[in-house]
Formats: sequence, C-alpha cells, structure tokens
Amino acid sequence: IELKRTLNVFDATSIGIGAIVGAGIFVVTGISAGLAGPAVVLSVLISGAIACLTALSFAELSSAIPKEGGAYAYAHETISPFAGFMVGWLWLISNIVAGAAISIGLASYIAILIPSIPVKLIAISACIIVTLVNLFGIKESSLVNNVLVLVKISVLCFFMAVGMFHLTPKNLVPLMPNGWIGVFQGAALIFFAYAGFARITTVAEEVKNPERTIPMSILLSLGICMALYTLTSFTAVGLVNYRDLALSGSPLSDAAMATGNPLASLVVTLGAITATTSVLLTTIIGLSRVSFAMSRNLQLPRFVGKVHARFRTPYVSIITVGVAMTLLASFADLKQVVAVSSFASLCYYATTNVSAFFLRKRNRTHIGTFKAPLYPVFPLLGLASCIILIFFLTYDSVLIGTVAAIAGGVYYLIRKQITRKDAGRPG
Ligand code: ALA
Repeated sequence: IELKRTLNVFDATSIGIGAIVGAGIFVVTGISAGLAGPAVVLSVLISGAIACLTALSFAELSSAIPKEGGAYAYAHETISPFAGFMVGWLWLISNIVAGAAISIGLASYIAILIPSIPVKLIAISACIIVTLVNLFGIKESSLVNNVLVLVKISVLCFFMAVGMFHLTPKNLVPLMPNGWIGVFQGAALIFFAYAGFARITTVAEEVKNPERTIPMSILLSLGICMALYTLTSFTAVGLVNYRDLALSGSPLSDAAMATGNPLASLVVTLGAITATTSVLLTTIIGLSRVSFAMSRNLQLPRFVGKVHARFRTPYVSIITVGVAMTLLASFADLKQVVAVSSFASLCYYATTNVSAFFLRKRNRTHIGTFKAPLYPVFPLLGLASCIILIFFLTYDSVLIGTVAAIAGGVYYLIRKQITRKDAGRPG
C-alpha cells in the first residue's frame, strides 16, 4: 500500500515549525541560561547557525533524493547501507529520547495548572494520547498541527511583546559568568531546541512537489524559529535572573510572571502546553516514518513497516515508538535526556553533511533542483561544527549515546549475518 501525497508548502513548513518549537525554547532555555548566563542569547545564535549549515545539506539532499526516511535514506544512497542504518538508528534514539524529554517538559507546564497530579503521570498520559492521534493518519495530524503551530507562534510573540516593557538591565550582568565555555555548553544543550527542522524530509513521499516544497519548507521553518528563539531568550534573561531561570521547570511562565501580570503567565503556560504537544505529535510522525523506511529496506523487522489498510499509516511503527517513549518518560531525568538527544542528533547531522558532500562527488546525475552555494564549504563547515558542539556536552550523555549507537551497529551486523545464512539455505 502506497502513502498518500497530501502536504503542500504551508503544511510542510508547519510540520517543520511543529517539530522545532517545543520543550527546547520553553524548558531548555532555562537549563542553558544556567550554563551560559544572559549570553544564552549567543548560545541560541551559535546553535542556530550550526543548524542552518546542516539545513542547507538537508535541503540539497531532500531535493535530490525525495524519499521517505530523510537523513536515513540520504546516507543509505550516498555513503553505504551501513551508514544509512546508523543514521536511522541515531535518529530513532534521538527522537525517542527527545519525545520523552518533551513530554516531561509538557508535564511540568501542565503541573502549574493541576499541581495535584504527579509530573511523571502527566508525561506518560501525554505520550499515550499523542500516539493514538497519530494512528488516525497524517492529514488529520497535519490539520491539528497547523492550528497548534499558529497558536505557539502567537504565544511567543505575545511573551516578547509583554516582556519587552519590563526588562531589567541588571539581569544582563555578568553577561558570561562561565565565559565562552559556558556559552558553548549552553549552545550544545539548546541545540535540542532546533532539532526537528528536517522532520519534513521523513514524510517526503506524502508531500506534493517534494523537490521544491521540501527545501523551501526546511529553510523557512528554521529561519522563522531562529528569529523567534533569539528574541524570546533575550526577553527571558532580561526579565528574570539567569540563576532563577536555570532552577525552573517552566522558565518562560516564571519570566512572564516577573511582569507582575499573572494573566500573561497563564497565557504563556497554555502556549507552552500547546507547543510541547505539537512537537510531541510531529516527533511521533517522524519516528514512525523513519522506522517504516528502515523496515522497507529490510534493516528493521518487516512487520514494523506494515501500513494500516484504512488509515494508511505505518501503525506498527507508531505503536512501537509510542511505547518506547512512554517507558522512557516514566523514569528519565530531563537534563540528561536533552543531552543524549542532542548528542544523537549532532551525530546524524554530522553524517548528513558527509552525505551532502558525497552527493555531488559521486552522484552527478542525481542533483535535484536545490543547490547550496559555495560547494563544498557548507557541508564541511556543517560537519566540523556538529563535531565541535559534541565536545561541549556532558561526558555521561556522550557515553550513554555512544553505547546506544554501538548497540545498533551490533544489531545490524548480527541481522546481516542471519539474512546471509537464510539466503544461502537451499529450498
Ligand atoms: N526542537 C524540539 C523541541 O524544542 C525537540 O522540543
């Protein structure tokens, strides 16, 4: 059964923004401000610039290889099936872990409204509900997503507009309490807030005119989010001391409260709930489609790729990732999951830059309608910057991410061995 082509530029950009703006800006801004101080604004700009470099690679690859599966499909075609598998695996790790982080972020904002329910219980319920919504199909999910995106952009603009009149200049000193190291550590964590800009590439086979629509929507959604993040983080550190932001599970609501207007804080809380819900929704869309593509290439068990006859969604992969995310959300620590997710995404973004480098080297006839300028400067800068940022993540998150990546590699080799034996069997 084929997937339906239903998404236009607006839907595609909206899926991008839906995937990007979520727990990152609403929750991780606080943790990053604890490391960078008020200079968290620089962290936001640095990680945004790094995301833009990689986005150019994604845009070019998506126009040349408009296939379901995104970064996974690019590495598979331009480097090797093993590289493809590793990218897909890291993508799965990053997004399952991100999903858990987002649901905890969502839960900490919901807990402001209903403090009697434990945060973990809310996080688990959120994972289950969003998985069910996804089972009913991309068009339904995309429509819900369009509305949610509109709401969250409006709320961030509202936050800036209200906050702008209450900024306290003394909150901005010292600008860099932990120097440039703190700024880069903050950038490595807040990178999480940009993850998702390439989500649309994972549903390429459901997009109309993908060679044009996908590159355009990637660059549009990232540009819009960078502008929003820079202004939002500046407003937040201007309203509240960075140390207080760092201690809060709902930093933007606290910042809004500093305006002395509880109604403004309520609007931000509702906006945060909407934003994190929408990002959770698209995270599961992306996850299920990547596992669908991997199973179609026989790199994950075949049953994972089953498409539902009526809803035409890859229902087995949706349920599988939904369950994994729910389990993780039930015991994980927020800062840790954010760091592991950033590590895994920086690894596959680095590989995607390698794919973009090889695309023109090896596959001259395969070049699509979008070409990034100054080849090979951008893919190489993208690769170097992703690797550099990894060095600013905590040691234990890099270790956990590496172990998970190696586990994937071992699974791949064992599965290959078994497939080979089966193929050699008579009969
Ligand atoms: N970028 C996504 C978020 O901010 C993962 O929640």
